[in-house]
Amino acid sequence: MSLKAISLALLTGAITVATVGLVAAQSPATPPAATAAPASPPAPSAFKPSLGDLMTMTIQPRHTKLGLAGQEKNWAYAAYALHELEESFEGAAEVWPVYGKTNVGELMEATTKEPMEALAAAIKSGNAPKFTEAYARLTATCNACHQATERGFIVIQAPRGTPFPDQDFRPQKP
Ligand code: HEC
Repeated sequence: MSLKAISLALLTGAITVATVGLVAAQSPATPPAATAAPASPPAPSAFKPSLGDLMTMTIQPRHTKLGLAGQEKNWAYAAYALHELEESFEGAAEVWPVYGKTNVGELMEATTKEPMEALAAAIKSGNAPKFTEAYARLTATCNACHQATERGFIVIQAPRGTPFPDQDFRPQKP
C-alpha cells in the first residue's frame, strides 16, 4: 500500500468514525449510559379533552355559527360552518368512540346524519324556511342525545344573539 493510499484509508476511516459519532449524538434513541446519564424527565402526558370539553370547544360554537349564518342567509358561510360542525362531530367520536355505556360514534352518525344532509340541501338551494326547519331538527338531535346519555339538563336551542362580537355573519358583497 502506498503512502497516499494509507493516508486516504485513514482519512476515510476518520470520516466514518466522525459520522458515526455525529449520528449517535443526534440519535435520541441511544440509550443513556446507566451510570453517567441523569434521569430523563417524565414524558409529557397527552392532553385528552373530555367529551364535555369537545362539545363546548368545537360542537357548540359551530352549531351557534351555523345558526347565525342561516339567520343572515349567508349561504357561503353556512356551507363552511356545516362542514366544520361535521368535522367536530367526527373529532369528538374519534376521541370518545364510547362514552360510558353509549357508543358515541354510532349514535352521532345515526342521529345527526339526516338533519345534516337536509341542512346541506337547504344551504345549496338557499332555502331559508327549509334551513330553519332542518336546523331545528338538528338541534333536537343534540337534545335527544343529551337525554339518552343522562344529560337531559343540557338543553340546546337556536342562537338568540351572537356570542361572537368580532365576527360579521352577514353575506359579503362580491
Ligand atoms: C352522541 C351524543 C351527543 C350528541 C349528538 C350531542 N351531544 Fe352534546 N354532549 C353529549 C354528552 C354525553 C355530554 C356530556 C359530556 C360530559 O359530561 O363530559 C355532552 C355535553 C355537551 C355540552 C356541555 C355542556 C356544558 O354546559 O358544559 C354542550 C354545550 C353540548 N353537549 C352541546 C351539543 C350540541 C350543540 C350538539 C348538537 C349540535 C350536541 N351537543 C350533540 C352527547 C352528545
